[in-house]
Amino acid sequence: MSRKILILNGPNLNLLGVREPSVYGTTTLIDIERACGEVAARYGATVESRQSNHEGALVDAFHDARTWAAGVVINAGAYTHTSIALRDAISAVQLPTVEVHLSNIYAREAFRHTSMIAAVCIGQIAGFGWRSYTLGVQALLDHLEIPLLVAPDE
Ligand code: DQA
Repeated sequence: MSRKILILNGPNLNLLGVREPSVYGTTTLIDIERACGEVAARYGATVESRQSNHEGALVDAFHDARTWAAGVVINAGAYTHTSIALRDAISAVQLPTVEVHLSNIYAREAFRHTSMIAAVCIGQIAGFGWRSYTLGVQALLDHLEIPLLVAPDE
């Protein structure tokens, strides 16, 4: 089985680090991707990251992942709340997918309380800042029953 994970990021997440740091923190997307790679390495897995501000490109990235990924960690940004196309792509591709958000979307504006993709994901992690991603990678690899190669404190 493939041990590659797609980390897929939607609109405006390329601006992490400078975008509303009081809400999203100061960690950049590159730093988050590096942290995810380090977690994956403990399982002998690797991550591949994609980001797009365009809904269709995110759908395309999902389709492409079908051929090489074991699963997906997705922060769909604002498309979380609107995109039936992305939800259908997750359903169609059938890769185990973990939904992540830096902020606690349920503690924010009402329009962020609905996720179009939650029901087709295996679970959701929100509110832990950049750690939502590393928790997401860990949750996905545990779900896939890929064993840890080294103890977490080694
Ligand atoms: C977000 C939450 C969304 O509501 C928002 O549109 C984002 C980021 C988060 O990570 O907290 O772009 O997905």
